[in-house]
Amino acid sequence: MNLIISSSLLLMRLLSRNVTLRRANIQTILSRLYSEGPTELSKAQLQKFKSQEQRFKRRLHSVHRKFADVPDNSEFQGQHHVYLEDGKRIYRSTLGHGKQETVEVFNADWGEGGYGSIQRVRLSPTETMLAATVKKDHHEKTRCMLIRLNGVSCTQRVMLVLDNVLSFEWATDDVLFYSTQESLRSLHVFRLHLIDSAVQTTLVYEEKDPKFFVEVSRSRDQRLVTINCSSKTSSEVWFVDSKSPFSFPSLTQSRQPGLLYHVEHSDNSLFILANTGPDQEYQLLRASLASPSMPHWVPVFSAVPGTVIKDLELLQDHCVFTVKDSHCRLQIQTLTTKEPYQLNTLQLPQWACDLSPQRVGTVDRGSFSFLLSSPVHPPVRYLYSSKGQKLSITEDSIKHISIPEFNTTRLQATSHDGTMVPLTLFHMPAFSELCKAPLLLHVYGAYGVDLNMTFSPEKRMMLEDGWTLAYCHVRGGGERGLSWHRAGSVLQKQRGVEDLAACIQTLHRLGVSGPDLTALTARSAGAILAGALCNQNPQLIRALILQAPFLDVLGTMQDTSLPLTLEEKGEWGDPLIREHRDNIASYCPCHNIQPQLYPSMLITAYSEDHRVPVSGVIKFVERLKKAIQMCTTQVDINARVPSVILDIQPGADHFGPEDFHLSLNESARQLAFLYTELGLSLDQQRTRRRRK
Ligand SMILES: *[C@@H]1O[C@H](CO)[C@@H](O)[C@H](O)[C@H]1NC(C)=O
Ligand SMILES: *[C@@H]1O[C@H](CO)[C@@H](O)[C@H](O)[C@H]1NC(C)=O
Ligand SMILES: *[C@@H]1O[C@H](CO)[C@@H](O)[C@H](O)[C@H]1NC(C)=O
Ligand SMILES: *[C@@H]1O[C@H](CO)[C@@H](O)[C@H](O)[C@H]1NC(C)=O
Ligand SMILES: *[C@@H]1O[C@H](CO)[C@@H](O)[C@H](O)[C@H]1NC(C)=O
Repeated sequence: MNLIISSSLLLMRLLSRNVTLRRANIQTILSRLYSEGPTELSKAQLQKFKSQEQRFKRRLHSVHRKFADVPDNSEFQGQHHVYLEDGKRIYRSTLGHGKQETVEVFNADWGEGGYGSIQRVRLSPTETMLAATVKKDHHEKTRCMLIRLNGVSCTQRVMLVLDNVLSFEWATDDVLFYSTQESLRSLHVFRLHLIDSAVQTTLVYEEKDPKFFVEVSRSRDQRLVTINCSSKTSSEVWFVDSKSPFSFPSLTQSRQPGLLYHVEHSDNSLFILANTGPDQEYQLLRASLASPSMPHWVPVFSAVPGTVIKDLELLQDHCVFTVKDSHCRLQIQTLTTKEPYQLNTLQLPQWACDLSPQRVGTVDRGSFSFLLSSPVHPPVRYLYSSKGQKLSITEDSIKHISIPEFNTTRLQATSHDGTMVPLTLFHMPAFSELCKAPLLLHVYGAYGVDLNMTFSPEKRMMLEDGWTLAYCHVRGGGERGLSWHRAGSVLQKQRGVEDLAACIQTLHRLGVSGPDLTALTARSAGAILAGALCNQNPQLIRALILQAPFLDVLGTMQDTSLPLTLEEKGEWGDPLIREHRDNIASYCPCHNIQPQLYPSMLITAYSEDHRVPVSGVIKFVERLKKAIQMCTTQVDINARVPSVILDIQPGADHFGPEDFHLSLNESARQLAFLYTELGLSLDQQRTRRRRK
């Protein structure tokens, strides 16, 4: 179950904007990169920068190789086969007969060209069919391919291709429900019935409110196919019993402003996670399948004070909750599904920061398999089994457990209004030895989404080079629950900036690094807080890295001709309301630039980004350069002059390059920038570590 209403698919549209940028415009900026105005680098500097980039690229290559075989979510099991997905193809082998021949069952290239990467895969209940969506390269267009798995040769396998499919689930082996996407909106759900060689398509749900986004999902026991309708502030779930797939969808509870809920199923009962608990946080309730609406919801469990529920898996006789405590430590709590409900807490390793459930091919209701990782700890596969309520590490993971020692330190910073903001720190030297360590901070703080804490070989490399990595769980994100998001959205957006400043100041005060050795990185909506911090507190950091940054909040939100401005009001406010407009204007990074000494910035934007207007990024950079110019003509000649580098990458969309080499190049460029700006020498960093 994915608790964040804005699931990964939804997330994709969060910053959707329609920008038409003239090609010529992009070219000019590309050619100006590294060589303009007050930020001009000398030929020698540029040469040095380029050669550093090359060296980092080689190192990144080798660190990626080193972690190439860590467990991931590329494998899933059906009833009779095990499947392996490599991004473009799916292979399978028969279960349980020793070493088996592996057969290719799906290839993204079987369809029309240009649809490169697999997005979502589902097996039909008895494994006779497979459906998979593939994404068009450099576009957010997807299509769904239906594949026969049994007794046909490769060329006959593709049975049907459906365009613009976003989400889908099998109800039976011949009934598929799917939602479609157009202009980054998803409003329709269809039922596809496969009858011998014919197909019958029926519209089963149509969303009338453009603020809502529709997605097809299913309960873990596969009994119900659900139609999730969600806006930023409310949800509505319809369901179809797979035992009667042609019946009209039933409504759980009609939408109400502010009511968020998710639905799971077991033994003719609905288990509902709704924000009806104390402080409008999630609690678990129960209702019968026959009378599913709110008046019949019976409370079962509310989060233990100080913890928040992040996710739920419903097994045969247990609910398994993923929870976070006030320091963002992960825990698993299990609850029996029959009265008397019994709660059991299982501690996870102290380094664990991210829990990703293993994808489930077909029904396994006795156990729950997941990957635990942190930005610097490779994933380890764990298995929770209902029987005996035990947690174990799976065999393929044991070797990755014994990686070199590092520390995970969890702190809290006191923000301007007294709120305690959690901070997670990774470092190799002892905490007391961090005063000269370079520090890289991470922030997001929007849409109620937690900071991404999954494993990254790059971050591991930086850790081993002596960096301290800090993750600031500021308000606006979801780390401390739904109220944490509310406390940092719309009129409260500035709280996130204050939290970020408090995190940095706390670290410096505790003797971790110092302003001259501190850099900050953010992407997408995280750039708003990072940009606002630079306007308000430029002296706190030395360098900033932004990717696909949202910087012109005011300009974007005022342009009602742009799609999705409507949905985004829940996060930033409505500029037509005077109070909201003034508030956005007060923190918008693009509208608060002043002549002052800014940190150096490397800003990467993507020409095919339809979510964040590239024009807004250019506006920000131009204003910033002007401000820096004004400031540097006044101060003395020896003062530091910040570099502002705008790198507009052609071809990629909001999510950056899909090509592995291009993305390595990008990481290498960022590392070269950080080392240059913080005055670090690559050799110096590495020898310092070896001597330890
Ligand atoms: C984007 O803008 C262009 C030009 O204004 C327009 O032709 C196009 O239909 C728009 N696309 C969407 C998805 O709104
Ligand atoms: C869709 O709804 C079902 C039922 O409420 C839930 O289990 C699932 O997690 C939801 N999916 C998403 C992506 O929100
Ligand atoms: C951190 O790691 C070092 C070296 O591995 C160790 O000596 C120290 O006790 C750890 N803990 C803290 C809090 O520094
Ligand atoms: C999270 O970060 C990892 C590693 O940097 C990246 O591969 C992944 O795509 C990110 N996930 C999301 C949802 O952004
Ligand atoms: C990556 O950068 C190098 C130069 O550093 C360049 O030669 C190479 O073509 C780039 N790779 C890609 C895939 O663009």
